[in-house]
Amino acid sequence: MIIAIDGPAGAGKSTVARELSKRLNYKYLDTGAMYRAITFELINRKLEDSEDLEKVFKEIIDSIELDFVDGDIVLNGRILTKEIREPIIDKHVSKAASSKVVRSFLSSEQRKLAINSPNTILEGRDTTTVVCPDAQVKIFLTASLDERARRRYKELLKKDIKIDFEEVKRQIEKRDKSDTTREIGPLKVAEDAVVIDSTEKDVEWVVDKIFSLVRNKR
Ligand code: C5P
Repeated sequence: MIIAIDGPAGAGKSTVARELSKRLNYKYLDTGAMYRAITFELINRKLEDSEDLEKVFKEIIDSIELDFVDGDIVLNGRILTKEIREPIIDKHVSKAASSKVVRSFLSSEQRKLAINSPNTILEGRDTTTVVCPDAQVKIFLTASLDERARRRYKELLKKDIKIDFEEVKRQIEKRDKSDTTREIGPLKVAEDAVVIDSTEKDVEWVVDKIFSLVRNKR
């Protein structure tokens, strides 16, 4: 079975998907980490301000290898964890997310990874609409902007990343805008997705809810 969890930044998709994958013993595929890893490489090559990003992304895609180990992304043999959660990545990730060449490459990689494994939880914007529209369980996980900004702020503080709350909120708002308005694979609710609003709900509540949806499908 394929379970796809879609939704805006900071809705809790990663946490919920990780927990659910443990409970169901499913493979967990964090699609956002792939966009983040490509952005990491873009910054590493100091090409984030390039005039011709499509050309740069094409070169990056042709020269990197992406993989996953225990749910963490591996770029050219290097496991990336904290590095791809830095505010500098948040700032530039929409460049990778709105690139035609990156989206087409990653969508096809994600589809392959999902199909090659018998049970997978795919998490990320466009997983229910573009990557796996045939997933048996489709979830659109959301929460209010304030709540999503609070969660992201707490997460960053825990990782010792210093940033102002209002700045986190501004970045999330900006990403929402760019995610919902981009031409290819924009963030939207798939027709047959179950919408779950996690404002004022904890992770366990959301995981239980999806768990029971999965059980009913089996
Ligand atoms: O989920 P996460 O915040 O790690 O994703 C980082 C960024 O990657 C998002 O803001 C979004 O712009 C992009 N993304 C995407 N499609 C996906 C997953 C992530 O465009 N399937």
